[in-house]
Amino acid sequence: MVILEGKGLTKSFDGNKIIENVSLNLKKGEIVSLLGVSGVGKTTLFNLLSGLDVPDTGEVYLNGEAVTGMPGKVGYMQQSDLLLPFKTTLENVMIPLILKGVDKKEAKARAEAILTEFSLFESRSLYPGKLSGGMRQRAALARTFLTGCSVFLLDEPFSALDALTRGEMQRWFRNVIKEKGASGVFITHDVDEAILLSDRIYILSGEVGSITAEVQVELKERDAFESEFIELKKAILEKVK
Ligand SMILES: Nc1ncnc2c1ncn2[C@@H]1O[C@H](COP(=O)(O)OP(=O)(O)O)[C@@H](O)[C@H]1O
Ligand SMILES: [Mg+2]
Repeated sequence: MVILEGKGLTKSFDGNKIIENVSLNLKKGEIVSLLGVSGVGKTTLFNLLSGLDVPDTGEVYLNGEAVTGMPGKVGYMQQSDLLLPFKTTLENVMIPLILKGVDKKEAKARAEAILTEFSLFESRSLYPGKLSGGMRQRAALARTFLTGCSVFLLDEPFSALDALTRGEMQRWFRNVIKEKGASGVFITHDVDEAILLSDRIYILSGEVGSITAEVQVELKERDAFESEFIELKKAILEKVK
């Protein structure tokens, strides 16, 4: 069942066409990645899908309903979605609930519950500057999850992490999404990450960005050292060029 769909999305800035006629969908319970080189229009596309920006042409549908240009319908973690440095981890995570008008006591209880789930409860009173990169990223994800949406758009959620932390976070992330029965699209420019994490990959490429390939990830094991993984990676690298 398709939960989120973009149909024929085109967007220009100052007469410069960035993406053209992009159509993609996300099914319930699925993790899909959007893979493409820097500057190809990935974030532009996410801004359209999230309703933060309006396409020149095309529509966005959530559960079959047109939501084009309507923000707040999906959980969106932007590329530069940083925690506020002058608020504690707990206060940061409470923000989406407070903005929604949830009572402060309830917001605190719900934020504490998700911090526990994300192994951050002990750090709830620390300011972001005192957290490691991985912890900050988990807190930002916790905050996105607390929007109450079951569909997530995550713009390069792991790119700021060092390789070891990233591997740990990736495994954890896939489990969390699957356990929650949530659905999400995440942006990456890392082919390994796309294969490790997603059920399906869309490749955005070209002078004017468009979807040039769609790859179903069907692996017995999500292990970067297995030959079937390496074969798939080679095939994808050919398509990204
Ligand atoms: N608000 C904007 N105004 C003008 N140009 C923009 C704007 N947003 C993005 N662009 C341009 O669109 C292109 C694609 O950017 P972006 O979607 O951020 O790419 P990616 O996320 O794939 O790296 C870039 O050339 C960027 O400069
Ligand atoms: Mg981007």
